[in-house]
Amino acid sequence: MIKVTFRSSDGATASDVEGAPGDNLLRLGQAHGEPLEGTCEGQMACSTCHVIVDADWFDRLPPASEEEEDMLDLAAGARRTSRLSCQIDLIDDLDGLTVSIPAESRNMQGV
Ligand code: FES
Repeated sequence: MIKVTFRSSDGATASDVEGAPGDNLLRLGQAHGEPLEGTCEGQMACSTCHVIVDADWFDRLPPASEEEEDMLDLAAGARRTSRLSCQIDLIDDLDGLTVSIPAESRNMQGV
């Protein structure tokens, strides 16, 4: 299994979940109740699945496509290590991956 840690934006809470190779990071997070909207269901048209990847892990992910980079430019609270979780599929090398949920994506839930 591949362990993934989802942290809250302020780092106050973290939950460890387990996925299998080929699992999609957005769907894995949603299945465990993480506040990732993923409105467009992986079509790279919404950026509400945005997560901030821990710096240690960012370079180990397959690079983002140009389309993903364009969407990240529009994502609320994007940082240098931001990625769209719908574009990340788990592989064995990602065991231990740690990502944070941006504060803005939480706030949107109450709107
Ligand atoms: Fe919409 Fe990822 S779910 S861009």
